[in-house]
Order: sequence, then C-alpha cells, then structure tokens
Amino acid sequence: MTPHINANEGDIAETVIMPGDPLRAKYIAKTYLKDYKTVNTVRNMLGYTGYYNGKRVTVMASGMGIPSMGIYSYELYKFYNVENIIRIGTAGSYREDLKIFDIVLATSSHSESSYAKVLYGETEKIVEATAFLTKKLETTAKSLNIKVKKIRVNSTDAFYNETEVPTIMVQKYGCEAAEMEAFALFHNAKYFNKNAACILTISDNLITGEETTSEERETKLDQMIKIALETI
Ligand code: HPA
Repeated sequence: MTPHINANEGDIAETVIMPGDPLRAKYIAKTYLKDYKTVNTVRNMLGYTGYYNGKRVTVMASGMGIPSMGIYSYELYKFYNVENIIRIGTAGSYREDLKIFDIVLATSSHSESSYAKVLYGETEKIVEATAFLTKKLETTAKSLNIKVKKIRVNSTDAFYNETEVPTIMVQKYGCEAAEMEAFALFHNAKYFNKNAACILTISDNLITGEETTSEERETKLDQMIKIALETI
C-alpha cells in the first residue's frame, strides 16, 4: 500500500484507464466491466479492477490537476508494476473548428508547470506521449469508425486562466486544447520507462464559448471510453 492507494500488490492490472473523476471510474466499472472489485478507496479516489472482453483492466481516477495525476501515476508505475496508463478526460478547445464532443489524442503536452523540474530536473516544456500506445488508440478509433484528431495539449495549472491566451497558445506553442493532467502523466511514464497515452473529449470551446452540460458529459463520453477499453 502507498499513502494514497490502499490496493494490495497484484490488485491492479497492467493497464489502467484513468478518468479525472472518481464517479466516472465507478460508472465505467459498473457499465463495462465484468467481475470487478473495488481496489482503491483512499480519499474516494475510486479504483476498480475487472474484465473487459476477458482482458483484465483497472479503472481508477486521477483527480484534477498535475499534482494529483502526478501522485497517482507515480505510485501506480512505481509500486504497482503498472505498464500502461491511458488518461481519458475532457479538454477546452483553443480553436473554433475543434468543436464540443470532438475527440482528440494528445501526442504531446506543453506546460508552464514546475512539476518535471522539481521532480526530475527536467526543464523542457514539452513532453511526448508514448507513440505506440497513442497509435493503438488511433487504430482502435478507426476500427470503430470514430474520428479522432491528434493534437498537442496545454496542461495548464489554472482552469480559470487569465494569461494563457488561446490564440497565443496555438500560434506560439502549437497547443490546440487545454487540460490539466497529461504533462505529469507523460513525464512519469518517461521516467519509469512505461507507457502513457491520453484521449480527450472536447467539453468546451474557449473561442466560441460553446459548452456542454454536466448531464451531457455524463452520457456522451462513451465513445471515448469505448476507444480506451477496446484498445486494451
Ligand atoms: N481548461 C482546462 N481544463 C479543461 C478545460 C479548460 O477549459 N475544459 C476541460 N478541461
């Protein structure tokens, strides 16, 4: 056990699907997994291990933001022998033509966060996802006839953001959407020589002001969830 995860050794599968929201983890387990059991309850950061099409998988929440994702993915890779983490989540679009409910794959993340500098002495502001795992998600989406776009995300520390102006993020850094966790996940995977990928559904558009409702977010994320599950 770790300070934040009360699963026993062996309770967690080789591949973990990580939504931000613990209730989404619960929804995925209840809706899609067979013979699942609860493997984490600390701080209600719920985790479940079960079977999808006969394949053992864990679904566990990361919480919101780089520090939270940083803790959970670090502990999963280091102490639970997890090999693959697929983050599933939502993002705010920086482009007019990247619309709500579009699905994107984050091939890299840019961040002003100090997370990688503090932990690994790494000062690069851009970090890549694991190419082969990202490719697998892309191939799965294609086979399910679901369109996905590959983009760089901005992993921001501030949801209510006054300075990271969308047009500048696109022009200067090539970021097409904002989210808050991929940077920590990708860095931890790189450090431990493990695999990480990130698939996101656009939940709001920071240019047009288009938004999804919380009810829509409850039900319309299933395409992305299916892509992640079918990929394992
Ligand atoms: N900013 C950061 N993270 C997000 C957003 C956003 O606008 N939308 C969904 N996750």
